[in-house]
Amino acid sequence: MRTPVIAGNWKMNTTPHTAADLARSVAERTSGLLGVTKVVCPPNVCIPAVKAALHGTDVEVGAQNVHSEPTGAFTGEISVGMLTELATHVIVGHSERRSLFGETNTGVARKAAAAAAGGLKPILCIGESLDIRRTGEAETFCKAQLRESLEGYSAWDSLIIAYEPVWAIGSGEAASPMIAQVMASAIRDEISDIAGQAAAERVPVLYGGSVNPQNAGPFMDRPDIDGALVGGASLDAEAFSAIVQITAGPISP
Ligand code: 13P
Repeated sequence: MRTPVIAGNWKMNTTPHTAADLARSVAERTSGLLGVTKVVCPPNVCIPAVKAALHGTDVEVGAQNVHSEPTGAFTGEISVGMLTELATHVIVGHSERRSLFGETNTGVARKAAAAAAGGLKPILCIGESLDIRRTGEAETFCKAQLRESLEGYSAWDSLIIAYEPVWAIGSGEAASPMIAQVMASAIRDEISDIAGQAAAERVPVLYGGSVNPQNAGPFMDRPDIDGALVGGASLDAEAFSAIVQITAGPISP
């Protein structure tokens, strides 16, 4: 049985002060909503303030990126060891990192492996562009991207995959729950091919791309979709908490 995950990617938004306020508000609004792993991923400089604000709550902290080397001359970068005191998760291979900062599958694979080896849970993002979807090759593309981004990976119990079609990110046009389910199932098949059926059954597969409280429900009802990676709506505590609530289901009396 996989525990659903709702993760908020705050991207390059908030300051340490506003991030702590947002985190506190999410924790207050989602306290008592059980059976969902809740994660917020602030910018690196906000992580200490968010960690302090979330002390004693069940909301976990993630980073948005990490370097694969443990230390060294990598100006501006952050290592796994720096994050483990502060965070439990880290997003790797987000499409914005891939398209704007030149990240490759090989580099993403190194980050995922380093994160897991250091005790962080990687949230590995994959997804096709609109051009690729139009060619009808989305599944082939995503499977290859997944396989290459998992080269050398072995910590299947700590892995989370996020399927984020590039055309759905920040566009207000989410994929249909059916498209997301078909891809989530293909992702699980590919993991089964790489690591076996038991591993594939344990890895949560999230959908990301214009998720909001109005459209979240039908994604969560699909058998292979285990939660969401939320961008814009995660900056609004009420909207993010509503998505957590929808995923948790009705509160028992
Ligand atoms: P939006 O929810 O703003 O479309 O962003 C999705 C995303 O990129 C999460 O990582």
